[in-house]
Amino acid sequence: MAAEQFDAYRLPEEHEAIREAVRDVCTAKVAPHAAEADETGEFPKASYDALRAADFHAPHIPVEYGGAGADALATAIVIEEVARACAASSLIPAVNKLGTMPLILAGSEELKRTYLTPVAAGDAMFSYCLSEPEAGSDAASMTTKAVRDGDHWVLNGVKRWITNAGVSEYYTVFAVTDPTARSKGISAFVVEKSDPGISFGAPEKKLGIKGSPTREVYFDNVRIPADRMIGAEGTGFATAMRTLDHTRVTIAAQAVGIAQGALDYAKGYVQERKQFGKPVADFQGIQFMLADMGMKLEAARQLTYAAAGKSERGDADLTYFGAAAKCFASDAAMEITTDAVQLLGGYGYTRDYPVERMMRDAKITQIYEGTNQVQRIVMARQLLKR
Ligand code: CAA
Repeated sequence: MAAEQFDAYRLPEEHEAIREAVRDVCTAKVAPHAAEADETGEFPKASYDALRAADFHAPHIPVEYGGAGADALATAIVIEEVARACAASSLIPAVNKLGTMPLILAGSEELKRTYLTPVAAGDAMFSYCLSEPEAGSDAASMTTKAVRDGDHWVLNGVKRWITNAGVSEYYTVFAVTDPTARSKGISAFVVEKSDPGISFGAPEKKLGIKGSPTREVYFDNVRIPADRMIGAEGTGFATAMRTLDHTRVTIAAQAVGIAQGALDYAKGYVQERKQFGKPVADFQGIQFMLADMGMKLEAARQLTYAAAGKSERGDADLTYFGAAAKCFASDAAMEITTDAVQLLGGYGYTRDYPVERMMRDAKITQIYEGTNQVQRIVMARQLLKR
């Protein structure tokens, strides 16, 4: 291939343009609300409105359902850039993707048309209900049940740690339809907030991502039409896992964005802050810290983008790459944000500066969509299969 034709390993121009467009919106209309959302724990409605106005609230939804039709790499860049400004707000596009991915992967055409269209329009958000009080890492041990009753299913049980619960209009709910079949006895359903029998717990009091509500969801004889099942009976667990293969990439992107926000802030600070008669950035000890932060961040970003490419193409090794990107990027984000606090010294430890928020927000990326210990189980199983 001729050198001028071979665009070796760099982002296409349109993806760079998307980054610039999201960054502009977020700098002007999302970042200004980040500290307040963290302080009050309230959902950042102004950020939602700004993302919606620019079509960044659920960019992955295909054009045929009224969406922007962003590919997985573009979606990752959107989430990264929103997270750079406000991690809690980045859960708007991230959880809209998580909630709708089971439909996109396995739903009927009618279900997709009914439920993807309002999300694309920004009239509804979509959450994902997998975890339960006694079924976290061991997701297949869930006990929420769905029992067939004529043309309906009746759901009973409790889901826990549900991101954007109460704010979202729609929920993908995984429930046991055959208790004798473990993971093969789980099915997926769409439940609406307006379905009688659904209710929500009090918001969890969390360390970070405070502007993104996390609540329990209760199902008390929730009766839904049989055609709200996503895919065939018994395929729910595989759909849940296939979904996470794609969306762990978005959590990796979120981690990259949080880390970039912390590095950018710390970089500016060390050039302003003077001690011993000169900017602290002139000290080699500080420079080495910055260099390590930048290096880890770029490695995390490259792995995340490679995983996003695999998500877009549906490559066979996506399971491995999704887990690796999420695990590596979230560990890197925790280190980078902790170092950013260190670079600001005592100021970094106060809420007058944003880096302590970023450090608290980074922590969740090592925990949700599968702990980093689960990611290592997933990676090891994939490696041993090859
Ligand atoms: N794609 C398709 N099918 C898959 C799959 C995948 N990636 N992973 C597993 N399956 C299938 C398997 O093939 C298997 O079927 P067979 O028996 O026919 O092979 C079946 O599912 C069961 O798989 P395992 O035997 O591997 O299941 P396991 O019980 O050992 O669990 C696990 C594996 C990886 C630990 C899994 O339970 C897991 O990922 N746990 C973590 C759960 C998680 O990530 N929760 C996050 C909740 S969402 C969240 O946090 C969102 C939020 O609000 C932001």
